[in-house]
Amino acid sequence: MNFVGSHILSVSQFDRQAIRTVFEVADRMLPYANRQRITRVLEGAILGNMFFEPSTRTRVSFGCAWNLLGGEVRETTEIKASAIAKGESFYDTARVLSGYSDMIVMRHQLEGSVDEFAVASRVPVINGGDGANEHPSQALLDLYTIRKEMKDRGKNIDGLRIALVGDLRYGRAVHSLCKLLTLYENMHFILISPPELSLSAEYVDDIKRAGHKVLESDELQTGIGHADILYVTRTQEERFPNQAEADKYKGLFRLNQSIYTEYCEPNTVIMHPLPRDSRGNANELDNDLNENPNLAIFRQTDNGVLIRMALFALILDVVDKVEETSSKVNWYTARRF
Ligand code: CP
Repeated sequence: MNFVGSHILSVSQFDRQAIRTVFEVADRMLPYANRQRITRVLEGAILGNMFFEPSTRTRVSFGCAWNLLGGEVRETTEIKASAIAKGESFYDTARVLSGYSDMIVMRHQLEGSVDEFAVASRVPVINGGDGANEHPSQALLDLYTIRKEMKDRGKNIDGLRIALVGDLRYGRAVHSLCKLLTLYENMHFILISPPELSLSAEYVDDIKRAGHKVLESDELQTGIGHADILYVTRTQEERFPNQAEADKYKGLFRLNQSIYTEYCEPNTVIMHPLPRDSRGNANELDNDLNENPNLAIFRQTDNGVLIRMALFALILDVVDKVEETSSKVNWYTARRF
């Protein structure tokens, strides 16, 4: 894969070598994300951080990743604050914004919207999530986290047993992660969802065609007992035709410490792309797991900065210049990683 100047629209662009490259560069970003050193490698460069759908971690961590490389960020945080609300097309928006930026990250509720935007953009575009379709940087940070967590437990990604829990129909993070995991060997996928929110046949068929095992279940307790990773997801209420329909599926699968203790193997890793829905009628990942050392959800969010810095550095061809332009920090720094 040639990263330089490329759009990142789908994880289908990645093979195992490309993933290794991203992870190697992400490892090299640690001193900067950890505030041990600062680099000015992107001094003068501007990121257009265009989020037309709500976001906390993807928007802010892409912005921070760019800032940590020395660049400036301009952003939009909702459709009504942009001229798209006045009927401007993706084509015109992309032509305009690509005149102002060196790279663009975009999120939008419509599947395929970021592809359409990228066609008209004069600078590289990264998909920050397009409807229920894909979330490539989330899948890369999830896989990077899985690799680290498994390594700490003396295991590899190959042979992984992963239980994907919740809304597998609309969850774009799940879709992208499944595609990436399919590149590895001898995987066991345990798909736990209500039948109406099951992973669509196109993903399941691809997983099976690649020779991996698939078990589908609509019961949490029976599915989670033999997994290395529990990847829990929220009901994606914003993709449902109405709130009442979404509410039917909230709270059906709730992982908490007592269920974890009773049914999971010791050291099973708990992941979630976040946000988790902590409201009473949902609560798919209980706060009583917060002190469980196997809860990796905030390690995922920290790792997101490393992965997003790596993508920027690779696409803008500055990986080997990051250190050249670096210096020690002058302020007190709390350790993150
Ligand atoms: N995981 C994720 O996409 O979170 P945000 O919606 O907060 O960006």
